[in-house]
Amino acid sequence: MNRLEVIQLLINHTKAKNYLEIGVFDGRTFLEVKAKRKHAVDPSMKISNRYKFHSIRYDFKNLMNKYFHQTSDAYFESQQKKLEQNKIDVAFIDGLHTYTQTLMDVKNVLIHLNTKGIIVMHDCSPPTKASGWPANSLENAITLNIPDFKNEWCGDSWKAIHHLIEWNKKFNALDIFVLNCDYGLGIVKPKNNFSVSMLDSLKPDSIYETLSYEFLNSNRSGVINLKEENYIREYLNKNP
Ligand SMILES: C[S@@+](CC[C@H](N)C(=O)[O-])C[C@H]1O[C@@H](n2cnc3c(N)ncnc32)[C@H](O)[C@@H]1O
Repeated sequence: MNRLEVIQLLINHTKAKNYLEIGVFDGRTFLEVKAKRKHAVDPSMKISNRYKFHSIRYDFKNLMNKYFHQTSDAYFESQQKKLEQNKIDVAFIDGLHTYTQTLMDVKNVLIHLNTKGIIVMHDCSPPTKASGWPANSLENAITLNIPDFKNEWCGDSWKAIHHLIEWNKKFNALDIFVLNCDYGLGIVKPKNNFSVSMLDSLKPDSIYETLSYEFLNSNRSGVINLKEENYIREYLNKNP
C-alpha cells in the first residue's frame, strides 16, 4: 500500500471529515485525498494552478481546500482557536523530516485531534543509512556528500516514533506502529484513556536525537514496532 491508499482507508473507515496535511509539496497526495474539509500546510508549496483546477474536476470538494503557506509551528499558532472548534480527524505528517520537528508536529496534532482521530507519518523506516541521514531537507542532504546517497531521503523522523513508543510505556494511551510500506508509514492513534495533559512530558531529548541508524537497523521491529502493511486492516477491524 502507498500513503494515499492508507490515508484514504483511514478516512473512509473512521468517516473522517477534517484532513490536515503537513508538508504538501506539489499536492500529489493532498489533492488526491477525498475528504470533506482539507487543510494544506507548507511554507514552500509547489502546487500548480493547473493541478488545482484538475483536482476540482476530479473531486468538487477540492474547491473548499484551505492552503496555509507557513510552517507547521506557525499554522498551529495561528489556527489554535479554529482548531479547537473544528478538530482534526486524520492528519498526514510529512513536513520537515527532523526528529525534533516531527515530534513537535505529532504533539501539536495530538492536542487538536478528535477522540477517534488518527495520525499517519511518512518516512518512518528509512531503508538505508544514507536515506536516514539527519538533514534539514532533501536539498540539504544532497550537499552533505553522504556515502551511497541515492537522492532517496527520509531523514530521522524514525527517532520521533521511537521516542513516542518509549514515552507511551508510562501511559499506554496511544496505539503506535509503523507499516512496512512507502518508506514506513507511522500510525499513531489515541486510546480512550488519552488526555492532552499527558503530553506535558513529551519533549525533544538528546537521548533520542543521538541514536544511530545501526540502532534502528539492528532491531527495526522493536525500535519502531514495524508491522506488515496488511496489519492496518486487522487493526481497523479490531478498532471499529
Ligand atoms: C516530502 S515533501 C511532502 C510530500 C507530500 N506530502 C506528498 O505526499 O507528496 C516535504 C514538504 O515539507 C515541507 N516543509 C518543510 N519544512 C516544513 C515545515 N516546518 N512545516 C511544514 N512543511 C514543511 C517542504 O516545503 C516540502 O514541500
